[in-house]
This record gives sequence, C-alpha cells and structure tokens, in this order.
Amino acid sequence: MCCLLRPFQLLYLLLFLLNFQPNLSSSSSSSSITQLCSPEEAAALIQFKTSFSIDESSSWWCDYYSKISYPKTNSWKEGLDCCSWDGITCDNVNGQVIGLDLSCSWLYGSIASNSSLFHLRHLQKLNLAFNYFNLSKMSSKFGQFASLEYLNLSEAYFTGQVPSQVSHLSKLVSLDLSGNYIQTLDKHTLKGLVENLTKVRQLVLDDINMSSISSNALMNLSSSLRTLSLVGCGLIGKIPENIFHFSQLRFLGLPYNYFSGQIPSSLTNLRHLEFLYISNNQLEGSIPNEVTAFPNLISLDLSFNLLNGTLPSWLYTVSTLKHIALENNKLSGDIKEFQYNSLEEISFGNNKLKGPIPSSISHLVNLTFVDLSNLIGIVEVDMFSKLQNLQVLDLSYNSLSLSSNGVSANYTLPNLQGLYLSSCNVSEFPQFLRGSESLKRLDLSNNRISGKIPKWMWDVGKDSLWNLNLSHNSLTDFEQIPWKEIEYLDLSSNFIHGDLSIPPSTTMVFLISNNSLSGEIPSLLCNANNLEYLDLSHNNLSGIILQCFGN
Ligand SMILES: *[C@@H]1O[C@H](CO)[C@@H](O)[C@H](O)[C@H]1NC(C)=O
Ligand SMILES: *[C@@H]1O[C@H](CO)[C@@H](O)[C@H](O)[C@H]1NC(C)=O
Ligand SMILES: *[C@@H]1O[C@H](CO)[C@@H](O)[C@H](O)[C@H]1NC(C)=O
Ligand SMILES: *[C@@H]1O[C@H](CO)[C@@H](O)[C@H](O)[C@H]1NC(C)=O
Ligand SMILES: *[C@@H]1O[C@H](CO)[C@@H](O)[C@H](O)[C@H]1NC(C)=O
Ligand SMILES: *[C@@H]1O[C@H](CO)[C@@H](O)[C@H](O)[C@H]1NC(C)=O
Ligand SMILES: *[C@@H]1O[C@H](CO)[C@@H](O)[C@H](O)[C@H]1NC(C)=O
Ligand SMILES: *[C@@H]1O[C@H](CO)[C@@H](O)[C@H](O)[C@H]1NC(C)=O
Ligand SMILES: *[C@@H]1O[C@H](CO)[C@@H](O)[C@H](O)[C@H]1NC(C)=O
Ligand SMILES: *[C@@H]1O[C@H](CO)[C@@H](O)[C@H](O)[C@H]1NC(C)=O
Ligand SMILES: *[C@@H]1O[C@H](CO)[C@@H](O)[C@H](O)[C@H]1NC(C)=O
Ligand SMILES: *[C@@H]1O[C@H](CO)[C@@H](O)[C@H](O)[C@H]1NC(C)=O
Repeated sequence: MCCLLRPFQLLYLLLFLLNFQPNLSSSSSSSSITQLCSPEEAAALIQFKTSFSIDESSSWWCDYYSKISYPKTNSWKEGLDCCSWDGITCDNVNGQVIGLDLSCSWLYGSIASNSSLFHLRHLQKLNLAFNYFNLSKMSSKFGQFASLEYLNLSEAYFTGQVPSQVSHLSKLVSLDLSGNYIQTLDKHTLKGLVENLTKVRQLVLDDINMSSISSNALMNLSSSLRTLSLVGCGLIGKIPENIFHFSQLRFLGLPYNYFSGQIPSSLTNLRHLEFLYISNNQLEGSIPNEVTAFPNLISLDLSFNLLNGTLPSWLYTVSTLKHIALENNKLSGDIKEFQYNSLEEISFGNNKLKGPIPSSISHLVNLTFVDLSNLIGIVEVDMFSKLQNLQVLDLSYNSLSLSSNGVSANYTLPNLQGLYLSSCNVSEFPQFLRGSESLKRLDLSNNRISGKIPKWMWDVGKDSLWNLNLSHNSLTDFEQIPWKEIEYLDLSSNFIHGDLSIPPSTTMVFLISNNSLSGEIPSLLCNANNLEYLDLSHNNLSGIILQCFGN
C-alpha cells in the first residue's frame, strides 16, 4: 500500500461509498418457518468457512478505519437455516443465497480456484473486504458470478493481476479492488471493462498498477460513474480534456500518480463534484479559474504538484467547501477574503503566496487545521484568537507578531494539538498556550526566545515530577494546566538559558540544542521514560552523562 489518503479524505470516501451498497431483500428467517437455504449452498458455505483460520489481526485495517470487526462465520452452524447466519442474505422467495458480506471477519487463508465460494451461483453482492487472503492470486473464477452487482475485495491481501474475466460481470454497479497487492490491470482487461461494465457507478481500483494504460483509454469507461478512485495507480500523461465525459462524478480521486501538464479547464464542468483529489502528481500551470466552477465541492486537494498562478476566485465563493489543501505548489499572489464560514481545514503552506492573511479567517470558527507556513509577510497571531476549534496551527517561516509583549494573552486555544512556529522571529513563549491542555507537538525552533523556560510550561516538582501541586503557583490569572499529552518538543536554536528543565513524562522527542543552558544534566531526566530522541548539544551544560542514557 503505497499511499494513504488524509484522514478526512478517508472518512469521506468511506461514508460516501456506503451510500452505494445495494439493498438486497433481507433474510427470510423471520418470514418463514421452512428452511429456505438449499443444502448445497449451506454445504458450500460451511466448506468455505472451514477453509480459513480465524485471526483477529487479519482485519487490522478495520481498527484503522474504526470499523467493527468480529468473526462472523462463528455463527455458522450446520443444520440451521443458512439464511439466518451472520453475513448471509437470501432471496425471500426461493431461499437462494444472494448476498455474502464477510468484510472485517478475521478470515485468514487463501481463496483458490477450487474454493467452494464459487459454487454460490446466485450472488448479487459479495463483500470480502478487510480480511487476509494470504497473498493468494485473485482467481479468474470471480468472473463467473453472472448476476453480481457489487464486488468488494478491498484491503484483502490478494495478489496477481485483475483477471480479464472480471469484465464478464456486466451487471456490476460497484467494484472495489483497492489496497491489495494486485500488480496489474492491463489494456485488454480495461477494454473488457469499458465494453461490458456499462452500469458501473463506482470504481475503486487504488494501488493497482495501470502504468501500461493511457489515461485516454480510461475516458471510455461508463459515463454513469459517480465515484472514480485510482489512487497510486502509476498513471502517466495528461489528464484528458474530455474528463467532462464523466458528468455524474461526485468523487474523483487521482492522487499519487504521474499526471503532468495542465489541469484541463473542462474539469470545471463536473458540476456534481464534491470531492476532488489530485495531490502528489506533477501538474503544472494554473488552477482553472471559472467563476461558476464546482458549485457542490466539499473537499479539494491539489497539494504537492507544480501548480503556479494565483488562487482561483471560486475558492472564495463555493460555500460548500470545507477542506482546501494546496500546499507545496508554486502558487503566487495574495489570499483574498473568504465569503463563507464553513471552512474546516486550509493548507496553503510552501507556495509563493504573499501575506497578509485575510481578516475573514478570524471568523472561520469551524477551522481545525491551518497551514499558512512560508507566506511572504507579517502574520498577526492574535487573529486566530476566536478559532476555538483549532487543532493544528502552522505558521512556520513567517515573520510573526505576537502582540502580547510579555503580558498574558486574554485568550486561549483549548483544543490545540500542534503548534508550529519555527523560524518566526518570535521572542517569547506564546502566552496563549497556557490553556492548550491537549498540546502534543510544539515547534518553536530557530527563534529569538530568551530567558528561562517559564514555569507554566511544565514544572519540576520536588517530590513527584508530574504530580503538580497546583497551589504552588500563583503565576497568572490562568489556571496552570500541565501538558499531559505533549510528545514532541523542539526548542532548538533559541537563546534559552538557566537550568535544564525536565519535560513532562509523555515527551518522546525533546530538542533543545543550540541554546545557552547551563548547570548539570539533572538526574530526574531519567524518569522521562518515553524519551526516544533527546538533543542537548551546543549548550553550556556540565557534569556527567547520566548512566540511564545507556538504557
Ligand atoms: C468495501 O468494503 C469496505 C469494508 O466494509 C468499505 O469500507 C468500503 O467502502 C467498501 N467499498 C465500496 C466501494 O463499497
Ligand atoms: C499463508 O501462506 C504461507 C506462505 O505461502 C503459508 O506458509 C501459510 O501456511 C499460509 N497460511 C494459510 C492459513 O493458508
Ligand atoms: C483445492 O486444490 C488443492 C490442490 O491444488 C487441494 O489441496 C485443496 O484441498 C482443494 N480444496 C478444495 C476446497 O477442494
Ligand atoms: C462481456 O460479458 C459477456 C458475458 O457477460 C462475455 O461473454 C463477454 O466476453 C464480455 N466481453 C468482454 C470484452 O469481456
Ligand atoms: C508497474 O508496472 C510496470 C511494468 O508494467 C513496471 O515497470 C513498474 O515498476 C510497476 N510499478 C510498480 C510501482 O510496481
Ligand atoms: C473510445 O471509444 C471510442 C468510440 O467508442 C473509440 O473510437 C476510441 O478509440 C476509444 N478510445 C480508446 C482510447 O480506447
Ligand atoms: C506557470 O508555469 C508555466 C509552465 O509550467 C509557465 O509557462 C507560466 O509562465 C507560469 N506562469 C506563471 C504565472 O508563473
Ligand atoms: C460549524 O460546524 C457546526 C457543527 O458541524 C455547524 O452546525 C455550523 O453550521 C458550522 N458553522 C459554520 C459557520 O459553517
Ligand atoms: C483581547 O484584548 C483585545 C484588546 O487588547 C481585544 O481587542 C480582544 O477582543 C480581546 N480578545 C478576547 C478574546 O477577549
Ligand atoms: C524581528 O523582530 C524585531 C522586533 O521584535 C524586528 O526589529 C526585526 O526586524 C524582525 N526581524 C525580521 C527578520 O523580521
Ligand atoms: C502544596 O503546596 C502547598 C504550599 O506550598 C503546601 O502547603 C501543600 O501541603 C502542598 N500539597 C501537597 C499535596 O503536596
Ligand atoms: C544556533 O542558533 C543561532 C541563533 O538562533 C542560529 O543563528 C544558528 O544558525 C544556530 N546554529 C545551528 C548549528 O543550528
């Protein structure tokens, strides 16, 4: 699996795909007293069950995606109506098994061509996603389910190539083969898919090597597609001009390919598009700027390309937008005022954009993620003071103005988890951090911070390091809140002096090199038992290297 979507993208893909699962008529167990399931199908299912071991780790992707996983086949008992078994759907009238959903079922073992799975002749829906089929070849027998509408073998550890027989499944509405170790989908097979899969509405083929396929050939796929996801498929060349052929698309995912050239302006004709992801390619030129483009867009990711020119005007007006990721391009010009307040994530870092940051940002109350690193201009940090949902703020490589001048800030950012202010000409510890109880990552490297590490950041108690006695401090009008979750702390290249303070015990990375710390290395540092990386170099520390460092 070479490529992962961002968490919010995964969430959307998963939620979005759920809408397309066909509704099969439900199990007959409650509507009939007779055993409707045929003995042949029951036997095939039992045989299928016994061809696997049950191993929880086979379905670890389910945990990753927060999906419930359990061994569904444990409820399969000989002698009972198989229509009542977990994961089975039968036709109400004749009892034929028409649906098999064993996704997230802890299955471990291979599926060979003689598997009894292929005796189930009436399947309309088959979902074996998120199991471990032990890198067995995807069998050509999958092409024999003449009535199949839904086939999902996502993250199931298949290998081999996409068998050309899959194109015999002419009733398919949904095909998901993503996240396997399937090496190729060749021209011949694609031709079959194009000719036969005329009803397909979602096609998810992430991680399958299609480098032998021209992107023009893809344009002949069914125009009824709603979802087209080809993440990390090795696709090369330009994005075809006639992409507008897919006029029904809601989800277009082409990240981690080798697309080059310009984004065709015809892309803006995809008026139903809600999710547009083409990050990590080699696209150049400017982002199509059509005033009425993408009226339904929710999420946009064009990051890590070579795009230049200015930000398109529709970015400021499409009021459905929640996520904009454009970092790591060559975009220039300024950022204009946003005319809607729904934005949750914006990422503009590492471009050639100019400040100032538009004042409308201070009204985007739902913002959780802001990357405005590397702007040209001065950034007024207090403009983020009302964004109480902020979790990540990256303003690195800007010239910052922290207007507090040492006075306590009159606001906090209680949900902040990551603050990145590297190389920002900052001369003090940001006061607003006092209320950021869930801070995990802090980067203040390469600034002009002098003086000691303030007590409010963390405190080395006499008796117990991290059991702070809150009554000790009368420092501020804020309650002192120790950082219970801090993991990454970079204070290197500043002018910090005084004794070395001990960071909270949760710290894994602590970088404070190139400062003016003095005194001995305190033995209490040995209690920081989560530390994996410690850099104290280029200070004036004295004394002995602690024995515990060996551990
Ligand atoms: C395939 O199944 C997995 C696991 O249930 C699910 O997350 C994914 O959305 C499904 N894919 C499609 C195209 O329905
Ligand atoms: C999985 O494949 C490995 C290597 O081919 C083999 O040793 C092992 O027995 C297989 N496991 C199962 C459950 O089939
Ligand atoms: C499938 O064939 C293999 C040999 O290729 C054999 O070991 C296995 O028992 C067969 N399985 C079934 C279900 O017939
Ligand atoms: C289309 O599907 C039919 C059966 O459904 C099959 O006979 C035919 O070979 C398929 N065509 C291609 C190009 O795969
Ligand atoms: C994809 O397949 C081509 C040959 O068809 C091969 O050169 C290339 O290395 C493969 N890419 C990956 C990532 O396996
Ligand atoms: C797409 O289909 C058209 C007409 O059906 C055909 O002329 C063209 O050659 C096909 N393109 C590719 C790349 O297969
Ligand atoms: C953008 O890049 C293209 C080449 O990729 C170049 O022709 C064009 O002049 C550039 N435009 C700007 C505004 O830099
Ligand atoms: C912020 O999010 C909440 C909860 O999702 C929503 O109800 C509210 O409308 C959003 N605010 C804006 C300005 O979009
Ligand atoms: C903080 O104080 C400034 C004036 O010094 C005021 O403009 C701002 O609204 C205050 N912010 C909050 C969150 O109270
Ligand atoms: C850094 O800030 C100081 C004032 O605090 C200012 O005089 C100096 O010009 C700033 N340096 C840069 C590179 O912005
Ligand atoms: C906390 O500090 C106060 C003042 O120094 C002291 O009186 C009190 O005993 C301390 N409490 C604990 C639990 O150590
Ligand atoms: C040490 O810090 C100073 C001042 O912040 C900086 O100019 C210098 O480049 C840093 N040296 C190293 C080796 O990082």
